[in-house]
Amino acid sequence: MGKDVIIACDFASKEQVFNFLDKFQGRKPFVKIGMELFYAEGPEIVQEIKKRGHKIFLDLKLHDIPNTVKKSMAVLSRLNVDMTNLHASGTVNMMKAALEGLTREDGTRPILIAVTQLTSTDQESMEKDLLINEPIDKVVMHYASNARLAGLDGVVCSPLEAEKVHSTCGKDFITVTPGVRFADGEIGDQKRVMTPEQAKKIGSDYIVVGRPITAAEDPVQAYERCVKEFCD
Ligand code: C5P
Repeated sequence: MGKDVIIACDFASKEQVFNFLDKFQGRKPFVKIGMELFYAEGPEIVQEIKKRGHKIFLDLKLHDIPNTVKKSMAVLSRLNVDMTNLHASGTVNMMKAALEGLTREDGTRPILIAVTQLTSTDQESMEKDLLINEPIDKVVMHYASNARLAGLDGVVCSPLEAEKVHSTCGKDFITVTPGVRFADGEIGDQKRVMTPEQAKKIGSDYIVVGRPITAAEDPVQAYERCVKEFCD
């Protein structure tokens, strides 16, 4: 599994994202496109960024009945994205259907990972709003195991959970971890953070980094610093 830094391109428009990517010149970082940009610009934004030579993690977090997710995944697969995701809470059957939809005629498919519990959900809201009374880390590991059982490739998780996910689901089960900050950088609204170097030590496979790169004075230098700390 090749370790890589994925830049969260949380921009509101095509102009903004292209302005940003133009700074990288010859470099072609792996980028994450989320709901904001996708809903604003449509599937063409994926095709255009792909055409520029970037790998794409399409972060749309699908969650619906298995048949709908299967058909939607088939559409996303035709966009030739490299990685996409769904909510593990949609059940094992939904995840299996997603994989079927995602698999192309030649047997290839994008990497499929699951969101377990969002990091914005805490023990209290999980108990109160969702009526789930187990400890949250047990729930996260259970959802990760379900994703593995369904045949998915990995999960998005907090860097603090990555080691436990690997010991529960196996070393080859991919962990994609946001919440990354430089030791001397702003934390912003993220609560539990790790540096790229720490994320490497605890065995994250991919780190997702947004503002430490997109809001940096020199985004290319910030990206190179992440790559150096995480991949070298
Ligand atoms: O700017 P920042 O580095 O905080 O961006 C992190 C990215 O990862 C954002 O796109 C955010 O939506 C995403 N993310 C996250 N925490 C999760 C899941 C996704 O920060 N649990």
